[in-house]
Amino acid sequence: MTNPLRDPQDRRLPRIPEPCALVIFGVTGDLARKKLIPAVYDLANRGLLPPSFVVLGFARRDWGDDDFSTLARRAAQEHARTPWREEVWTRLSSNIRFVGGSFEDDAAFDQLAETLDELRDSAGIPGNAAFYLSIPPKAFPVVLKQLSRTGMADNDKSGGWRRVVVEKPFGSDLESARQLNALVDDAFTPRDVFRIDHYLGKETVQNILALRFANSLFEPVWNANYVDSVQITMAEDVGIGTRAGFYDTVGTARDVLQNHLLQLMALVAMEEPTSFQADAIRTEKLKVLNAIVVPKDVKEDTVRGQYLTGWVAGERVPGYTEEKDVPADSKTETYVAVRLGVQNRRWARVPFYIRAGKRLPRRVTEVAVIFKQAPHLPFQPADVEMLGNNQLVIRVQPDEGVMLKFGSKVPGTAMEVRDIAMDFQYGEAFTDASPEAYERLILDVLIGDKTLFPDSAEVEASWNVVDPLEDAWIGSSPEIYRAGEWGPRAADQMLAREGRHWRRA
Ligand code: BG6
Repeated sequence: MTNPLRDPQDRRLPRIPEPCALVIFGVTGDLARKKLIPAVYDLANRGLLPPSFVVLGFARRDWGDDDFSTLARRAAQEHARTPWREEVWTRLSSNIRFVGGSFEDDAAFDQLAETLDELRDSAGIPGNAAFYLSIPPKAFPVVLKQLSRTGMADNDKSGGWRRVVVEKPFGSDLESARQLNALVDDAFTPRDVFRIDHYLGKETVQNILALRFANSLFEPVWNANYVDSVQITMAEDVGIGTRAGFYDTVGTARDVLQNHLLQLMALVAMEEPTSFQADAIRTEKLKVLNAIVVPKDVKEDTVRGQYLTGWVAGERVPGYTEEKDVPADSKTETYVAVRLGVQNRRWARVPFYIRAGKRLPRRVTEVAVIFKQAPHLPFQPADVEMLGNNQLVIRVQPDEGVMLKFGSKVPGTAMEVRDIAMDFQYGEAFTDASPEAYERLILDVLIGDKTLFPDSAEVEASWNVVDPLEDAWIGSSPEIYRAGEWGPRAADQMLAREGRHWRRA
């Protein structure tokens, strides 16, 4: 029942989900320990969870509720964003449950269904549950089948809502993504399927829409008449860690280009949505994804790279093929750069240069909109030697903010002009630290708000961009770069051929 005294427009009132359970599959995995459980604690700490809320863990362990609670406590203490408060944990942990079993184990799933039913009386939860599949993609089909078989995916049967959260990778190409979409949409009602792209949960990514559509300053120049090119960089200083088994079959293009980077590109390039409702935003993003032009000559306009041993932040690190569990002859890319276009009037002939890589000099994700040079410069050539293109740089992370770079007169007697920067930093402008992406996304799942979740059509359109690249790369060897360098030389040459260079991120 809605509260008549509660005005949805009133920003002082936090959005709080109805009483519900969050069921996490793969609760002992990295994602659950480092992101999901800490995010749940942070939400509890911020008072954003309903009083009746249960976390239910499922994994192949012979555990009781207390064992899971111990793991969850450690995970929250180590990785939560907000300060530790014992009373918050005490309240949360009184509602932590565990069901042990393998994904093939019918009895374990029957027990899970019973546990959910029993929460009606023991915890006052009238059937609402979200199932978070934090598990390897090959386990999706069997878990979905179990959820259907037991009736747990059925809204009517449960008497509340039943939602499913699917982590990326969402398929490994268009074909497998379609199969997976069909499978999930078959088990759950399509509107109850939440596909996670955690980049959309980041404040700085959501701010792209505010920056573009809440201001009058940028939109008039946000097009091919004024924009020379767009660069999107996602650099990581880390290697592949302990994820060789996953990463070596995937590579950078499938790991982050297909999702995070194409989503960033869609937000930068999309038209104004008619509202900020999920459907309206999805419509505009999808139009961009469908209008992306894949290079005709993939060899010219893409670069795959793989890191050799080198130095990152003063530390000697192994090369990719020397990492644990990576085959010595692996041809998987750990770096990708690609030149894409968007086939519409706004972006005709504007290149979108996108790059991502592991073991680059430092961690930085940014979007740089590079403007054309002024059509005429009434200055002595020597006075504008230090003047570059105007740039608007959206720093997604770290050091979150937005920077505007433009020319200014150097104080003195000459009319010398050089680039300066105007800088907005979240840390200075706002008192509250931004929530973690997973806090926002888990909360939205529990509330039922799909705005920040890509739908199946977006996922499929993104594979339509990546599949032709993957096909053209078959049998090719990646270019090499030393760990600690900004990727292979060929990526610099790709831009140099067009008279451009990568921004020093
Ligand atoms: C994940 C990728 O989706 O994003 C990882 O699978 C990558 O390879 C990670 O390291 C980066 O996330 P963030 O939020 O640290 O930029």
